[in-house]
Amino acid sequence: MNTVTRLTGGFPRRVTRLTLLSGVWATALTLACSSPNENGTAQGGAAGSVANKGGSSSQSGGTTAQGGNATPQGGANVAQGGATNVSSGGSTAGASGSASGGSSAGAGGAQAQGGATMGMGGSLNGGAGGGNAEPYPKPASVPAETGASLWLRYPVVPIQVRLTEYKAAFKQVVKAGTDANVDVAVTELTTGLSGLTGAMVPAGTTTDSGSVIVGTVQAEPIKSLPLATRVATLGPEGYLVETADVGGKSVTVVAGNTPVGALYGSFALLRHLQTHRPLAGLSLSASPRIKTRLLNHWDNLDRTVERGYAGRSIWDWSALPGTISPRYKEYARANASLGINGTVLTNVNANAQVLTASYISKVKALAGVFRPYGIKVYLTARFSAPIEIGNLTTADPNDAGVKKWWADKATEIYGQIPDFGGFLVKANSEGQPGPQQYMRTHADGANMLADAVAPHGGVVMWRAFVYAEGSPVDRIKQAYEEFKPLDGKFKDNVFVQAKNGPLDFQPREPFHPLFGAMPGTPLTLELQITKEYLGEDTHLAYLGPMFEEVLKSDTYAKGAGSTVAKVIDGSLHNHTLSAIAGVANIGDDANWTGSHMNQANWYVFGRMAWNPDLTAEAVAEEWVRQTFSNDPIVVAPVVQTLMRSHQALVDYMTPLGLAHIMGTDHHYGPAPWVSNLSRAEWNPVYYHKADAQGLGFNRAPSPGSDAVAQYFQPVRDRFASRATTPDAFLLFFHHVAWADKLASGRTLWEELVHRYSVGVDEVGVMRDSWATVKGYIDDKRFTDVADFLEIQHYEARWWRDACLTYFASHSKQAIPAGYAMPAQALSFYQGLTCPADAKKPRCMPVYNGQPSPAVLK
Ligand code: GCU
Repeated sequence: MNTVTRLTGGFPRRVTRLTLLSGVWATALTLACSSPNENGTAQGGAAGSVANKGGSSSQSGGTTAQGGNATPQGGANVAQGGATNVSSGGSTAGASGSASGGSSAGAGGAQAQGGATMGMGGSLNGGAGGGNAEPYPKPASVPAETGASLWLRYPVVPIQVRLTEYKAAFKQVVKAGTDANVDVAVTELTTGLSGLTGAMVPAGTTTDSGSVIVGTVQAEPIKSLPLATRVATLGPEGYLVETADVGGKSVTVVAGNTPVGALYGSFALLRHLQTHRPLAGLSLSASPRIKTRLLNHWDNLDRTVERGYAGRSIWDWSALPGTISPRYKEYARANASLGINGTVLTNVNANAQVLTASYISKVKALAGVFRPYGIKVYLTARFSAPIEIGNLTTADPNDAGVKKWWADKATEIYGQIPDFGGFLVKANSEGQPGPQQYMRTHADGANMLADAVAPHGGVVMWRAFVYAEGSPVDRIKQAYEEFKPLDGKFKDNVFVQAKNGPLDFQPREPFHPLFGAMPGTPLTLELQITKEYLGEDTHLAYLGPMFEEVLKSDTYAKGAGSTVAKVIDGSLHNHTLSAIAGVANIGDDANWTGSHMNQANWYVFGRMAWNPDLTAEAVAEEWVRQTFSNDPIVVAPVVQTLMRSHQALVDYMTPLGLAHIMGTDHHYGPAPWVSNLSRAEWNPVYYHKADAQGLGFNRAPSPGSDAVAQYFQPVRDRFASRATTPDAFLLFFHHVAWADKLASGRTLWEELVHRYSVGVDEVGVMRDSWATVKGYIDDKRFTDVADFLEIQHYEARWWRDACLTYFASHSKQAIPAGYAMPAQALSFYQGLTCPADAKKPRCMPVYNGQPSPAVLK
């Protein structure tokens, strides 16, 4: 390994010159990836695999193994297709690309930790597929990119066979039908096709060969095509993209049952082309499994963003409605490209002002920009708004005056915004007002608002994130205890919105026990895209595996197979409403999300909201191909880096089911020792319960908190027993003795040291793996990501050393042989006075020495 140290921005930096995948870091990563179609089935791509083997890779990329038929396991995608490609660079080896792994969640959401193996079932070698063996040329130079274009970049296809194919097929775009959504589709197609082919692809009116005809099945010429009957089965937002013969002309048809379906089909076609898939046998069809797919912005009216790490809010309230930032349209495009169809503009810790006439006119202006992209606006409703802006003396939901105030307010909003989505409410949680102040229930509050919006077709999304101000025995039990008894008592247009886990967006949590437990109520799954507890903007953590894990977790509510995905898509309990929400990571930074890699989390949320069966790996590959490059020399290491990143972070922050041991308020660095906060459940010591005997929160039956009782069998028993609780959640459910043996044969203490150390070293692998793409993508984004990985590596070591020195003060055990000693004593970490800037709470003394390796043997 060659390294040089230089100083950039005050951080000692180590630049690795060679690919480094060796020693304990060597993971025989077998990748066999494919691009799934919208229903999760890979098409057209070549089958094969790329294996990075320890120490054997060269500057020009990993060892490319090819020729195999990839058999995916644990994912929904099935590889099909033809021959393989030889990538530029890398050595080839004939190998069978059988990939296994992925993040399959077992019953109860359990999943093995540490699985860096990826299965995608398809191809990373060029992805041109269809028998094309043309290598990707190494770019001579790549213009700098800010990241502002997200995944909607349309660089000219750099491989000739595919370029020729696309140029022949796409010469103009013809509209079928009249609607704003179809107009947008035409614009997107002309922009994308012109970029990808490097030739002007204009909008046209007469059908010639090489036309893309986009529109609805109600409009000619699509109406008269045989494929129209198949579109009809796809539901209101469904689409079908196929080649067809129209009057002897060979065309590509993008057909939707509705205009927005045609728009989604257009983006599906563009995605297919952006990932350089062949056109032979083109048949893309899909419809979303979940009807309401929302971003939740925690944006305040002063443009600060709660838990935002990407600059200020993109909503420039003071300039609205007169000034419409061009970013609003870009935002809508990006969301529509994923199928996101709604956005809650304001923070759950709500400000009633947004419901005043002046703000409603601003919201109306945003709604006008978003409408052609199929996106509705929603607002958070502060429960005390009738008092704060309505001059009432009460907000009691049973009060006639309050009911009327909300009904009038809804009428006022819908008068301006006829397709307004509805209200999201955080009530009686963390100091927010709510119906319990008036001795009413959550159902009373939600139903009062539901009545107000029902005549206009609106919905209410009532959050279940509640915990009491007292000192509960176990905070995580409260949401279930408050909401389960209310099942069946909510009006038809009310959702109850629960976070993925019962605590609070931790790096890893078991699924929330409310999923499956309220059969009479549609539940919304709330995921946090912004990485409040996962390294914010800086640390690379691709959330796809985490989202996949929760969606596939089996609640057993109606026996085996009752996954969280089936609860929220409405199929398990036959609900007509269904919804999913992601707390946005978007701000006014040039790259939108504070870091280039955080764009992947917006992307994967949207894609899984559309189809919860997609695998994290398949989506990662799609995103990398669109965002960086289709060259396998880029795709393979970047997908690998994404796929190992979440587990790496869990290991160096909160391994084995630890939770909530982050620094107070900002939640950035480690602070497991904090014990002096006024509410017991705000303190890390409340969550880890380290003592001389062991570590972890006993949630088994008495003398534990018996939180496990909230799960259905057999999940309940599985989590109740120390023996059957997966390592991933061990310390979430059990207080385990330091000397207890784990599945690995190590004691708890040894395993803790091991996990923390592996987590650090994994970040070293990620950093070194990223170094291999230098020169293949633009330098700007390359350097931005490399710099953050460098910081992450130091900070992973900070986490490890701070946590291990602290836990050692309880275990009274030494760091076992074979692992690096912590760089500093516990008092050093406890004495760090950071952050200076609560949004970037970096502690400069941490950036000293070498952060790795942590595993020495
Ligand atoms: C977390 C987060 C808060 C947020 C809250 C919520 O506690 O730290 O900023 O308001 O979740 O989801 O309501």
